[in-house]
Amino acid sequence: MYSGFLQHWQLPSALLIAAATTVWPCMPACGAILNYIFLPTGIAPPYALVGVAAVLEASPDTTPTPTIFDHEFSLKDKVALVSGANRGLGLEMAMVLAEAGARAVYCVDLPKAPSDEWFKVKDYLARMKGKAGEGRLEYLGADVRDQERMWRLGQTIGDREGRMDICITAAGILNADTDCLEYTSKAFQKAYSSPNVMETNVNGTLFTAQAAVRQVVRFGNGGSIILIASLSGSVTNRGFHRISYNTSKSAVLQMARSLACELGPKRIRVNSLSPGFIYTPMTASFFDTDPGLLEVVADSTPLNRPGRPDELRGVVTWLASDASTFCMGSE
Ligand SMILES: NC(=O)c1ccc[n+]([C@@H]2O[C@H](COP(=O)([O-])OP(=O)(O)OC[C@H]3O[C@@H](n4cnc5c(N)ncnc54)[C@H](O)[C@@H]3O)[C@@H](O)[C@H]2O)c1
Repeated sequence: MYSGFLQHWQLPSALLIAAATTVWPCMPACGAILNYIFLPTGIAPPYALVGVAAVLEASPDTTPTPTIFDHEFSLKDKVALVSGANRGLGLEMAMVLAEAGARAVYCVDLPKAPSDEWFKVKDYLARMKGKAGEGRLEYLGADVRDQERMWRLGQTIGDREGRMDICITAAGILNADTDCLEYTSKAFQKAYSSPNVMETNVNGTLFTAQAAVRQVVRFGNGGSIILIASLSGSVTNRGFHRISYNTSKSAVLQMARSLACELGPKRIRVNSLSPGFIYTPMTASFFDTDPGLLEVVADSTPLNRPGRPDELRGVVTWLASDASTFCMGSE
């Protein structure tokens, strides 16, 4: 009712302000007041008003209940796609989406079959009290660099679930330390093994977001897309020679802002997340083989330590949920 009221008044308020400007000398102050009263501020959430707006509408004899965790932070019935979710940060993020109420979380990663760790998380969620029948983890093997495959995969999820709401692009790889003057074209692209950094971290991020967003648009419920960038997209860690990784993550930051501007009118929010050093299989590959490096990195951080994957649970839930509906194109 409230949102209808606001939308209804959008045009009249504009006319009223325009008319008042021409006839009333004290207009600057009055215009500001009218703007405050009439300017539409978006559609109110489907579960009704919350916060002070709810207080002002409530009758004095109702017994209010808290809404912040049951509504704003809740992902009840949402469907999500998370890339790189066979392990590491992707798996941690997939788990918390399910825990926050998502009906199904589709984990996408390179291996055809998921890891033991993934199965343990799936089983744990299935046993979680109060979550029976909810929080389903699903697994689909795919390479995020394969655009056609990713789009088809998105379509499959949409067909199965009848909706798509959230996407997290956590698939990513790191290149080996390489002297910037020695970088050949091939080396600039390559990671430790064979896949290439730019193609995985940049193209793969876009293709994953496209796969999900095409379905978000199809079902028209709006959505939240979280691109996993890195602190290495904004700052350079001295001593690490990782020019392709750093460049790829800067690209992800700008991709998020670009997508945000294009997709905002469709009620699809896009934000990026830039974790600092977190101990995962990716970072273990250099922390565990270079004695003393962990201390050097820890020393350069305000908390004097690298982070744990679980320390991203809160921010991911916040960004994925209605708790962040005015957060858009941010890092
Ligand atoms: N761990 C950190 O300190 C840190 C910090 C900042 C950003 N990040 C970013 O977070 C994301 C996750 O990192 P992580 O530490 O969990 O790494 P990880 O290596 O543990 O996990 C990455 C996952 O991505 C998958 N993947 C790689 N290439 C793929 C492809 N072509 N198609 C599908 N899946 C693919 C891998 O198989 C792996 O399961 C990455 O984008 C990484 O750059 C990590």
